[in-house]
Amino acid sequence: MRVLLAGATGAIGRPLLDALRTAGHEVLALTRKPTAEVPGAGLVVADVLDRDALMRAVDGISADVVIHQLTALSKPPARYADMRLTNTLRTTGTRHLLEAARAIGARRFLTQSMVPGYGYVDHGPRPLTERDPFGRPRGSRTDPMVAALHANERQVCAADDIEGIALRYGAFYGLSGSQGFVDALRAGRLPVPRDGGGTMSWIHLSDAAAATVAAMERGRAGQAYNIVDDEPVTWGRMFDEHARAAGTRPPRRLPGWALRPAAPYFATLMIDTSLRASNARAKAELGWKPAFPTYREGVRAPRA
Ligand SMILES: NC(=O)c1ccc[n+]([C@@H]2O[C@H](COP(=O)([O-])OP(=O)(O)OC[C@H]3O[C@@H](n4cnc5c(N)ncnc54)[C@H](OP(=O)(O)O)[C@@H]3O)[C@@H](O)[C@H]2O)c1
Repeated sequence: MRVLLAGATGAIGRPLLDALRTAGHEVLALTRKPTAEVPGAGLVVADVLDRDALMRAVDGISADVVIHQLTALSKPPARYADMRLTNTLRTTGTRHLLEAARAIGARRFLTQSMVPGYGYVDHGPRPLTERDPFGRPRGSRTDPMVAALHANERQVCAADDIEGIALRYGAFYGLSGSQGFVDALRAGRLPVPRDGGGTMSWIHLSDAAAATVAAMERGRAGQAYNIVDDEPVTWGRMFDEHARAAGTRPPRRLPGWALRPAAPYFATLMIDTSLRASNARAKAELGWKPAFPTYREGVRAPRA
């Protein structure tokens, strides 16, 4: 298939581009940077938030599938305001990309979603499935993030003229994601809650890429899929494992009262949220399973 990959230069985009090409697909990489290096892909240069520029950039192009992997997280989102641009990419950005997808004749559209869309609260021990409420406002400061994830999924999955699929990824690690954690650990800039914080579902970036290719080829239109590994883990354990594997100092452990003012969004994610997501639907319908079923294997995998 011919795929327009928006976000091809990002943390998930790079391994996804490789996985698509390995599976025999042709890729057009959408980026804002005319000088971007995306080996093996054609370049389409546009800012997705500029609707007219995007439509001009895709004029004359054809593709079978559009994949939306756009975020604005190159600076870690410690504060709620740091998520604003990412929220806009999931609302306005998705709308513009859907319009572009129709213009280039795409019949499938895959979009990046995230398991925190189930809510930044303690969900208890039961694994959450795609049937659980997603995108529900709770009268809290995380409502804009959750609303943006919901709007993103609704636009894509409810489209009647295009086969939309949402990929609810766990927290990313591995490859450049883990390199970022190790760099922050070495610099002493990766605090975790004193008790290790809540439980989160994670996914190695190479497994996220493989699941995305599987969803593109075999996913059911209108569906969301949790793309997570088999063993949720606390933030403290995850970062301790990174420190051990890299032979660096463990993360600084801070009490909530010290963490919240410095990094309120992170604190909500790491302290108030406890979330286990089930990957049963992805395994059953996509013919996919994680090559790194737990963080223990994934953290120690080579990062190249
Ligand atoms: N589920 C998760 O845990 C999750 C999800 C996403 C990201 N993250 C983490 O966030 C960190 C940063 O992510 P990242 O490296 O992917 O960087 P990023 O800065 O979030 O950029 C992601 C991609 O979006 C593209 N993009 C952003 N705004 C755009 C716009 N207006 N128009 C067109 N393209 C646009 C960028 O392309 P250009 O810059 O080339 O234009 C880039 O390819 C990583 O550590 C990653 O693991 C985690």
